[in-house]
Amino acid sequence: MILNHTIEALLDRRSIRAFRSEQISEEELTDILYTAKFAPSAMGLQARHFTVIQNKQLISDIVSSAVRNGATFVQGHTPFYKAPTVIVLSAPQSAKYGREDAAFASMNLMMAAHAYGLGSCYIGSVLDGLRDEAIAARLKLPEDYVPFGCLCVGYPSEHAPAPKERRTDDVSYVR
Ligand SMILES: Cc1cc2nc3c(=O)[nH]c(=O)nc-3n(C[C@H](O)[C@H](O)[C@H](O)COP(=O)(O)O)c2cc1C
Repeated sequence: MILNHTIEALLDRRSIRAFRSEQISEEELTDILYTAKFAPSAMGLQARHFTVIQNKQLISDIVSSAVRNGATFVQGHTPFYKAPTVIVLSAPQSAKYGREDAAFASMNLMMAAHAYGLGSCYIGSVLDGLRDEAIAARLKLPEDYVPFGCLCVGYPSEHAPAPKERRTDDVSYVR
């Protein structure tokens, strides 16, 4: 296997679930967002939006809203792991590939964060909270946009966990 920076980064990135409390720098934030904009998007339309949340109350309200909308978390679980930044990915409700556009942008964000020594974790468990009308209004999304996912970002306070063993039964060939 060729080991270069890109391959190494893809192999090394792990979901991080413990963060220092200090906020990431503006430069890091700007750079990872810029990198995310180079993710593939359907027909190159870039029909996805990034909402950066650095407001503790809103982050906490998203969790409460997720619970009100049916999410269950074990006692003491903090779904965003106290990360100081949450980035919500949204796309037009009517876009055929909104979910994909948002997902690819998320991956670029996580890889860029990793390259900067930041930790990140994709958080699917709060989606219903993000989509709650009251929360969606506070996110001030562009007209007709709906959240498709989010991730938390911050300076890691733990070493990346060892990766789970990868499946060996998930590739087949038709030749
Ligand atoms: C669609 C999706 C939803 C996820 N939701 C959560 C989540 O709610 N909370 C969490 O801690 N991790 C979440 N993750 C992260 C996965 O648990 C993680 O990617 C997986 O365990 C593999 O670990 P790795 O990212 O370190 O390789 C999610 C990942 C994906 C792709």
